[in-house]
Amino acid sequence: MQNIDIKEVLSDGQKLSGTTVNVCGWIRTARDSKTMAFLALNDGTSLKHLQIVIDKNNFSADALSAFMKNGASVSVVGKVVPAMKEGEFEINAESVELLGDCPLDYPLQKKYHTMEYLRTIPHLRVRTNTMNAMLRVRSKLSFAIHRFFQENGYVYIHTPIITGSDCEGAGEIFRVTTQEYKDAMKAADEEDYIAKDFFKRKAGLTVSGQLEGEVAAMAMGKIYTFGPTFRAENSNTPRHAAEFWQVEPEVAFAKLPDIIEIATKMIKYIIKAVIDECPDELAFFENAFEKGLREKLQKVVDSDFQVLDYADAIEILKKSGQQFQYPVEWGLDLQSEHERYITEQVFNKPVFVINYPKHIKSFYMKQNDDGKTVAATDLLVPGVGEIIGCSEREADYDKLKQAMVDKGLNVADYTYYLDLRKYGSVPHSGFGLGLERILMYVTGIGNIRDVQLYARTAGDLMV
Ligand code: 4AD
Ligand code: MG
Repeated sequence: MQNIDIKEVLSDGQKLSGTTVNVCGWIRTARDSKTMAFLALNDGTSLKHLQIVIDKNNFSADALSAFMKNGASVSVVGKVVPAMKEGEFEINAESVELLGDCPLDYPLQKKYHTMEYLRTIPHLRVRTNTMNAMLRVRSKLSFAIHRFFQENGYVYIHTPIITGSDCEGAGEIFRVTTQEYKDAMKAADEEDYIAKDFFKRKAGLTVSGQLEGEVAAMAMGKIYTFGPTFRAENSNTPRHAAEFWQVEPEVAFAKLPDIIEIATKMIKYIIKAVIDECPDELAFFENAFEKGLREKLQKVVDSDFQVLDYADAIEILKKSGQQFQYPVEWGLDLQSEHERYITEQVFNKPVFVINYPKHIKSFYMKQNDDGKTVAATDLLVPGVGEIIGCSEREADYDKLKQAMVDKGLNVADYTYYLDLRKYGSVPHSGFGLGLERILMYVTGIGNIRDVQLYARTAGDLMV
């Protein structure tokens, strides 16, 4: 008999009631009473477990002790029947086959474990409710992102993972090399080292698909990338990962206000998708991680986002009367304490901060006429801070080249990028949304390490 998904029994119980089915899964808890035993079974297709009811008269003591174990995997054949609770269904077991035994040293015996402990067992923490719910929301969110762009005529582009350029110009690149590790360590003669290397030039893992995304957009008009990006940022915060997924649309003929509108529509669309498609998961996160989560998300869908000039943000912070750890001054970057004050205390909703000083932002951003600022914006949200980095791109050859020189980039590495401004340059804009960051916002999970199957952070490569 082919097994059916537990989700099907839970949602189509009425239709299946009275029929005999086969379900498989892992036992979350096995409970025993005098004449009856109960298994809470989960196969990953739903957050809810399916209750398996076992009449002990029908099973030998040996058979029972073989499978009554937390963590064991079983295949159950039995009849679907209404449960005590109105509208719910369970299974009266006719046979239970043990697929995989699970000894008592199973690390998930207890009901509650700290997130820190669970991070030490990434191969087993997937079997917790938190990971079960997070991974399903992550999957739905990712699919909704694709749907949004596909429905709106964007072409999905796969930009290279190995690259010779540093998009953010921040030098946070993981080197890619085939040279002996030992040689690399004592590479006194860098030229010689590079000459012997695979690409015969410096290579690294991409920090962003933007530069290649711009190349594609200068032919295909509207494109998006969606893939892993890497940063060797040595910041040990709950919001920074060394490997994270980024969604990066790039839109020809769009200016800053246009891209802000696109970003707003996308955020609302994908959050609505999670509200519609993951009600059980959101109820779980509301209960376990963030009170008021669903109301917060609904408000994001229903109300406008704030747009705030960087200069006004500085004024608000200065007048706040708050004691911040980091100084507040025009020209300084906003720290996470400042971002949080603005989104949480002042507006309590997503805020686009626009027109940052040009010297704190990347070389590719369009320079405003004031000579001081760039047409860039970060989208800040309560609880998480920055989830989107966005800008109109500098479309003028000379201004772009000068910005590269000013920021100490090796212009020769970016000739192709400058060429885009030489041959049919057009205004264009794009942004990068960090998938893990929005996932933290949508689930209320407070640490980026807990929204990835395997966390990748400085000093910590689990497997
Ligand atoms: O603001 P960032 O650095 O912008 C870019 O990379 C642009 N090239 C994007 C573009 O315009 N196409 O990064 C974009 C987003 C951030 O807002 C944040 O959500 C996420 O990527 N991000 C990180 N997420 C997790 N861990 C990190 N270390 C991250 N760094 C950036
Ligand atoms: Mg940024």
